[in-house]
Amino acid sequence: MRLADSVALITGANGGLGKAYVEALLAAGAARIYAAARKLESLTGIITLDPKRVIPIQLDITDARSIQDFVSSHQDVTLLINNAGVALNYGGFITRPNLESARTEMEVNYFGTLTMVQALAPVLKQNGGGAIVNVLSILAQATSPVIGTYSASKAAALALTKGIRAELAAQGTFVVAVMPGTIDTDMSKDYAGPKVSPMEVAQATLQAIADEIEDVYPGEQATATAAQLLTDPKAVEKQMSVLLPNTLTQTH
Ligand SMILES: NC(=O)c1ccc[n+]([C@@H]2O[C@H](COP(=O)([O-])OP(=O)(O)OC[C@H]3O[C@@H](n4cnc5c(N)ncnc54)[C@H](OP(=O)(O)O)[C@@H]3O)[C@@H](O)[C@H]2O)c1
Repeated sequence: MRLADSVALITGANGGLGKAYVEALLAAGAARIYAAARKLESLTGIITLDPKRVIPIQLDITDARSIQDFVSSHQDVTLLINNAGVALNYGGFITRPNLESARTEMEVNYFGTLTMVQALAPVLKQNGGGAIVNVLSILAQATSPVIGTYSASKAAALALTKGIRAELAAQGTFVVAVMPGTIDTDMSKDYAGPKVSPMEVAQATLQAIADEIEDVYPGEQATATAAQLLTDPKAVEKQMSVLLPNTLTQTH
């Protein structure tokens, strides 16, 4: 799809990767960007990027009512970027079990994304098809036991992404899965390893929409892991498992 003149809705747009999506879409010529966040006041800095084209929206993706309120008054969206996500459980399924935060990860990363696509799919259809971007993680395909419950929630969201890709093909909606390694944002502030910049992820995503590439692996870490998953998935699993004993504070 054409990004110039598109009308985008970006969740979790108040910082991190969400902010980079706003900046990249402004540069690509989007007509209007609905920048959504749980707290309106957290969007002040984002609106100043372009007060005419960036419109602040209060939206919690776990709150179906706030999503419906948005949909009923905004029927012009052509591009949905499901960027909002949480990583809460640093510690493994057994090593430091925390069912409450594991459920919240599933509630936001999977059910929140599901509720968003259910609500916005008819809007995209009436506007000619458009595109949906689901921000996942390379951990959707390669479980890190250090951050296992988050990996599981992103794996569920990957299954969702493949399912809606098939379901929405008939209405012409293009569905992109974005699977980066570690991104340099607040979410990974305690991780010392290599990180890809939020802008590199945002630009790779927009390029994928323009070139109609369904699965995107931005950055060297994700590109290398994705290639190895094709040739030797067991080796990837083993590499992930050696992270476990002494790196329980690492994040993705
Ligand atoms: N950082 C990484 O290493 C990494 C790697 C791969 C994939 N990702 C994915 O990239 C996406 C963006 O994350 P980030 O790195 O930019 O981290 P971040 O700075 O922590 O941003 C997460 C965003 O999600 C929002 N959010 C959380 N729960 C929400 C809810 N219920 N409703 C609406 N918004 C909600 C947050 O809003 P508040 O400010 O209100 O909390 C925040 O804007 C996430 O899906 C994440 O899983 C990150």
